[in-house]
Amino acid sequence: SLTRRIDRPIVLVGLMGAGKSTVGRRLAKRLGLPFVDSDHEIARAAGLSAAEVFEKFGEKEFRDGERRVVARLVDEEPRVIATGGGAFLDEGTRKLLDEKTVTVWLDAPVEVLAERTGRRDTRPLLREGDREKVLAELDAKRRPVYEQAHLRIVSNEQAHGVVVESIISALE
Ligand code: S3P
Repeated sequence: SLTRRIDRPIVLVGLMGAGKSTVGRRLAKRLGLPFVDSDHEIARAAGLSAAEVFEKFGEKEFRDGERRVVARLVDEEPRVIATGGGAFLDEGTRKLLDEKTVTVWLDAPVEVLAERTGRRDTRPLLREGDREKVLAELDAKRRPVYEQAHLRIVSNEQAHGVVVESIISALE
């Protein structure tokens, strides 16, 4: 079976609102693998929410913590990992992921990102200014980096289940 052939972590990367956590959880369930969210692990280690860590200690400290968390997770049993949107932008984290995991970029249109991130106010990077404009700028800047992921999967308005099946086909 596919599950038996999966010998490395599957890591979802992409912008905030692309569906990394939701799709990741469902993908893990479908494959019978554990699921873990790197933002959640940072929060657990710090005893604060990921947003609080980001705001209190700044982006640099947050990325350092994120890199340590990712380094630990990739050496454990194969699983599905959802990363924070900026994790793959860090050179050290990206190198680790490239060498030890299968990276899947969830590529979603900016309007979809804006709609999904508008439901809850949990992203420090989106607290100020026009959300759609900020996301469009991040998308333009980060796209060339996300393009370095091993797989690109379009994550638009379609149901998360469809995205999960596209990932599974791409892994086969
Ligand atoms: C960030 C994305 C967030 C979180 C932090 C920074 C980013 O994660 O890690 O606020 O730089 O794109 P999500 O992509 O899970 O929202």
